[in-house]
Amino acid sequence: MSALRQAELFDHVLEAYGAASAPLSNAQLYREVGERAGIDPEAWAEQIPLGPDQPGHSMLKRRVRWYQQTLRELGLLQRDADRGRGFWSITPKGRRKLTPAEPGRVLLGFSTDLGLALWADAGDVFLHVDEPIALCLSSLPYPLARPRAYGNPTSHEYVDWTIRLLEPIAKHLMPGGSICLNLSNDIFEPGSPARSDYLERLVIALKDRLGLWKMALDPWVNPTKPPGPIRWASITQQHLNVAWEPVYIFCNDPVLWMAKNQRVLEPHSERHLAYVRGGGAKRAKTNGDGAYRLYPGSFGRETAGRIPKNVRILPHRCADKERARKLAIEQSLPVHGATMPLKLAQFYIEYLTEQGQLVVDPCAGWGTTARAAEMAGRRWLTTEQMGEYVLGASNRFVDADGFELFGAMRHAA
Ligand SMILES: C[S@@+](CC[C@H](N)C(=O)[O-])C[C@H]1O[C@@H](n2cnc3c(N)ncnc32)[C@H](O)[C@@H]1O
Repeated sequence: MSALRQAELFDHVLEAYGAASAPLSNAQLYREVGERAGIDPEAWAEQIPLGPDQPGHSMLKRRVRWYQQTLRELGLLQRDADRGRGFWSITPKGRRKLTPAEPGRVLLGFSTDLGLALWADAGDVFLHVDEPIALCLSSLPYPLARPRAYGNPTSHEYVDWTIRLLEPIAKHLMPGGSICLNLSNDIFEPGSPARSDYLERLVIALKDRLGLWKMALDPWVNPTKPPGPIRWASITQQHLNVAWEPVYIFCNDPVLWMAKNQRVLEPHSERHLAYVRGGGAKRAKTNGDGAYRLYPGSFGRETAGRIPKNVRILPHRCADKERARKLAIEQSLPVHGATMPLKLAQFYIEYLTEQGQLVVDPCAGWGTTARAAEMAGRRWLTTEQMGEYVLGASNRFVDADGFELFGAMRHAA
């Protein structure tokens, strides 16, 4: 297991206890943590030899027990009175590590000259926005069978849940505006290696119920994604390990769609530039069945850059988030386990909006959309239901012009 994955193990241990409906034995804990962290089941059996006549021990189990011990010392776990030794459950203090916004209550979290982060349920905010939204960029909670600390709808509830969340945003979307969603392709039917069809159902519902057209489905390839699905790839050995997540773009008016690839051009390669500067194609050429033709002078005109391909290849960790993670740990705030890479958000904000336009994220987490919008000179508005995540996000903005953290927020969370 890499050093980076070790750093996440603590969060998985806490999440496993947080999500369990009954006290967990250590064997159950290892299983839950393994599923969450994408640990190959064989890794648990790997033993470090202690001496010629002594049984070895599993470093991985030992590490999990060490985090378990830390949680006990922090008063976040309690021994189960009925089942006794070896069964632990989360304490009320442990559960309170995340504080949801009270229904109907909207608190100012922090702001900059360009944006405002609210501690609120999205449903209490976007109905009342009174200016046109150019882009909603969000990674919604995935419909996981083992929910993360902040919870999530099931795959069967997902379509209605998402439509409810996005309806007020779609109403305020400017003509040609976009809704860009990072979702998961790796949700399985209960007890089955069949993938859920919730994405297909969602795409159709967004069109039928909110009038949103599917404009793009870009794979985000994440080279650091942990192996999985463990059960169907490592145990039954039917599936391949997953490597990508879908990024969908929807638009209310395709003809007016404000996307502009010229805002996200990449540099040409040296080889391509030499070809262009040498005058491009020298003679007419037809490829294959004639579908593709070159004429003398084709590719002879130098352009500002290369139009990007519709695949994003980015690790999910980035320096900006690592700083936020370090600060959160120093401040005893929970670490957000499901953030987007900043570069992914930057790309779609620049591609889909112009400077000064309004970008929103109803499920802001650690504020990656807001941070990218701030850096790109777009105005932004976000909601996040968990107060501690709003505080954690604020750490990423302290150097932004006009940054202000609202005091009530710090006391409330
Ligand atoms: C996948 S995370 C988003 C992470 C974010 N893109 C980032 O990079 O930090 C989803 C977030 O949505 C929040 N959330 C879920 N339902 C919400 C709601 N109704 N209103 C506000 N926030 C919500 C969760 O608490 C969680 O932090």
